[in-house]
Amino acid sequence: MPAAPIARPQHQPFRPPAISILYSGFWSFASYQLYLLGQSGWEWGTLAAFVAGAMAIGQFIQAANDRFKVGGHRRKVKRFRAGKMKHGNSRFGTIKDIAAAKILSNKQGIFLGTIRRKRAHRDVFYDDEGSISIIAPPGESKTMSIVVPTLLANPGQNLIVNDPAGEVYSICNLALQKAGYEVCVLTPYPNEVSTLIGQKVTDMGVDVFSSLKPDMDPGRIRGQIENIMRWVMPGKVSMDEKSEFFYRSARMLGGFFALKELSEGRKPTLPAIRSHLMEGPAFIHDAFNDAEGSTAFGGVYEELAKSLGGVLTAAPQQFAGGFGIAEQCLDPYDHFSSMGQHTSGSIFDPSSLKQTTQLLPARSR
Ligand SMILES: Nc1ncnc2c1ncn2[C@@H]1O[C@H](COP(=O)(O)OP(=O)(O)OP(=O)(O)O)[C@@H](O)[C@H]1O
Ligand SMILES: [Mg+2]
Repeated sequence: MPAAPIARPQHQPFRPPAISILYSGFWSFASYQLYLLGQSGWEWGTLAAFVAGAMAIGQFIQAANDRFKVGGHRRKVKRFRAGKMKHGNSRFGTIKDIAAAKILSNKQGIFLGTIRRKRAHRDVFYDDEGSISIIAPPGESKTMSIVVPTLLANPGQNLIVNDPAGEVYSICNLALQKAGYEVCVLTPYPNEVSTLIGQKVTDMGVDVFSSLKPDMDPGRIRGQIENIMRWVMPGKVSMDEKSEFFYRSARMLGGFFALKELSEGRKPTLPAIRSHLMEGPAFIHDAFNDAEGSTAFGGVYEELAKSLGGVLTAAPQQFAGGFGIAEQCLDPYDHFSSMGQHTSGSIFDPSSLKQTTQLLPARSR
């Protein structure tokens, strides 16, 4: 629940104490004059002097009381100001703030805006490891004023843009290509995106097994399989031990068939693994037996077959749990589905995006 807003202190009706002191002075003077009149013979004079004296004292008391109220009000305002900043405050940064934050970077990172000065304008880019949230109502130029300039500022580095509707692609594609970029689209739904943006979009696809190589270090294979198959079979954030075991078995089973494809000279794909699983337990049993004696992947392939085969023989119900999860998670990847086509037939290796090679010469500005 959000904290209740701190109420602004209301201005209380009180008179400035100096005015009351003035009134008090006037009544004191009047009281003295009336007293003199009383002394000189006017019989009501002394009584009137008492009344005027009481008025003078009354005004003095009011001045003291108002002074007290002023102090209280000032303290409340001070507390209100301190409370208002309890959760932070904000204001527009000055050029000094920006320079101190070291975000006047050289066209690298996320474009934040331009500081307009009399002689020269300076573009401000955030180039650090934090993330940035842009908050504004719909249609307030978030994409046009931040995202598009960031992409087109030519930082000379690889960019990954999460652009589900293809909006940013439709705006920036041609300009990026003109600047020398190779623009790759990864989408399981190229036809839908093409219709949305009115441009032909071709899916590069994702080769999820691109990091598995027949000659890779055997010590890394199991970890790599776990990572790849976790992408396909993520499970839930918090799972009990039994579910955890089933998911681990399912990932290993999927990984085993990926190694099988590779060891037999085929490119592993998720639709192919799905087809193998659909052949049923007898086929899987035979596949484990076939792996016996294999030296593929430094023996890891045979070892994986043995451990999975051991579970299949000794605890068929437990094996069935992992098998069921694997079947369920691979269900969307049949040969004809969007996800199946997106992940098979591609040679695009996502890890190539991490290459540090500068593809473009940085443009001098
Ligand atoms: N500097 C600009 N020059 C020309 N047109 C602009 C500019 N900034 C915004 N627009 C236009 O204003 C519209 C809304 O801008 P934009 O798409 O950037 O807003 P948005 O905040 O990203 O909206 P949404 O919340 O829908 O994503 C777009 O049609 C865009 O073409
Ligand atoms: Mg937008």
